[in-house]
Amino acid sequence: MKVFEANITNQVSDFLNDNLKKIASFQKANQKMYDAFGIIHFFDNDEEFETLKEVLSITNNVVEEHDRAEYGDFQTNSDLANKVTLHLASKNISPEVVIEPTCGKGNFIIASFRNFKNIKNIFGVEIYKPYVWETKFSIVDFFLSNPNANKPEISIVHCNVFDFDFKAIAKKHSTNDILVIGNPPWVTNSKLGSLNSTNLPKKTNFKNHSGLDAMTGKGNFDIAEFISLTMIETFQNMKGNLLLLVKNSVIKNIVFDQNKNRYKISTIEKHCIDSKKEFNVSVEAGLFYCKLNSNPTFDCTEFNFHNNQKSELKFGWLNGKFVSNFDTYIHTKEIDGECPFVWRQGLKHDCSTVMELDKVNGYYVNGLNEEIKLEDGLVYGILKSSDLKNTVIKQTRKFTIVTQKKVGQETKYIKTEYPKIYQYLTQHQANFDARKSSIYNNKPLFSIFGIGDYSFKPFKVAISGLYKTFHFTLILPQDNKSVMLDDTCYLIGFDKIEFAVYALILLNSNTTVQFLQSVTFLDAKRTFTKDVLMRIDLLELAKQIDKADLQSELETLNEKYKFNLTLDLWDSFISEMTPVNDRQLTMFG
Ligand SMILES: C[S@@+](CC[C@H](N)C(=O)[O-])C[C@H]1O[C@@H](n2cnc3c(N)ncnc32)[C@H](O)[C@@H]1O
Repeated sequence: MKVFEANITNQVSDFLNDNLKKIASFQKANQKMYDAFGIIHFFDNDEEFETLKEVLSITNNVVEEHDRAEYGDFQTNSDLANKVTLHLASKNISPEVVIEPTCGKGNFIIASFRNFKNIKNIFGVEIYKPYVWETKFSIVDFFLSNPNANKPEISIVHCNVFDFDFKAIAKKHSTNDILVIGNPPWVTNSKLGSLNSTNLPKKTNFKNHSGLDAMTGKGNFDIAEFISLTMIETFQNMKGNLLLLVKNSVIKNIVFDQNKNRYKISTIEKHCIDSKKEFNVSVEAGLFYCKLNSNPTFDCTEFNFHNNQKSELKFGWLNGKFVSNFDTYIHTKEIDGECPFVWRQGLKHDCSTVMELDKVNGYYVNGLNEEIKLEDGLVYGILKSSDLKNTVIKQTRKFTIVTQKKVGQETKYIKTEYPKIYQYLTQHQANFDARKSSIYNNKPLFSIFGIGDYSFKPFKVAISGLYKTFHFTLILPQDNKSVMLDDTCYLIGFDKIEFAVYALILLNSNTTVQFLQSVTFLDAKRTFTKDVLMRIDLLELAKQIDKADLQSELETLNEKYKFNLTLDLWDSFISEMTPVNDRQLTMFG
């Protein structure tokens, strides 16, 4: 049965019917609910109280389910909430104050009553009124079924978590042992943007992302991350613990930012959960646990929550570097430095139906299946992440129109120099105008991003940012023209094939693979980012590599791809990578 769109058991509706029907005001009703169950302000006003009495007389309330996407609504089932609180209790955690910042249907609150015996105050905050009711009804049900259970003072508040004054709790209960527990909403600010939702914190520059980062997606953040950091910041000076069920990416970010935030938290742990089983979604998530009011620590130990086994993994800050696996990192840390060449992200146009072309019988064919004749001048082969399977690529499946040589370049020249291309692009102007990203606002017509001198280098070494394969690919020119990569890929460009091949050998060496495995997170949306790739110190790798291994790798490539390359340019490759000051020292030394 549902009342106020909230599930209610027969036990609770019978109790409320029997005990409230003769009561005249909501204040009196509230006193009765407080005396019986410790719940303060059970009803907000008389209207609610009268409506409840009326509704309870109607059985079988059918209510429609609302679309809850903007609220990141994945309720923790009671079994999991029970196991989580039992786990904490097994560590001798026994809070006096429990806070559930977005309590939903209240399963963590009920589980806390069940497994913590010293609770004096419990606070739940929830934006969705039916869940506030469901939590209150569940509490009543719990105490009706467990009349001898300890009854704390309970406050379940219908409020936006971003407006609730958590600091007041920290102040009032400063000497109590506290537990912050819950599962904050699983939704990102960009998803909220697409839903036109305002379910966002008021602080717009959260994490100090610049406007451009926000526009290009780097400023995308999880609401759960904001809530978790607010909880840590507010309660870090109180004795106690914090446990929040969040996406793995949120846990990684909290540990990453701990270097800067230096919150007073320690014993940071991540307990991986099976979200498919628990929430029926394929999202990597886990329990973020930390002890409050302690000397700050900067790393996190991983466990599997379901078998309570400690995995070998420990990640976080180690000697000033952010590392995904402490154990394997130790063996390759020497190459953790700065790449002498700048890694670049590939080309971005956000207009694939018009800009992504196949070549069929001398015609280009676009995503609308239109056959088009274009001047070849601005048409280049392009590779996507899925194309980067082999070690060497000489040919592309797809082509694209490169309208600019650098970001922001004027595009009027296309009209006179490439009339067919101009006509084609203008015919599809609407597709360009429909591009959502604001990076294209007030830019020349048909603008692209991720373009510069480096895009036109003939030889490139590239990797997909999305795939979890630790393998780099050499890309050769096609019909004497450089080949482009799309924005899911990262590349470094070279004028000489020898340099590109030397870099390829170094990047595909076991040392690099091990290093990358120690600093990347397999559950990240992008395994490889510019930041990670820039950490590969190619010069150090070049100094470390065994010359015989290098020679043998080169011969294998020569044989397989019909190259005829030698190590004659190795010294000038080393010199190219050596910082200018060091080079002068070597000359005069
Ligand atoms: C992932 S669910 C988890 C609910 C509960 N903590 C649990 O563990 O089952 C997230 C909850 O946050 C609530 N919520 C979303 N945005 C909120 C906001 N701005 N303020 C308060 N609650 C919010 C949702 O309605 C939903 O109940």
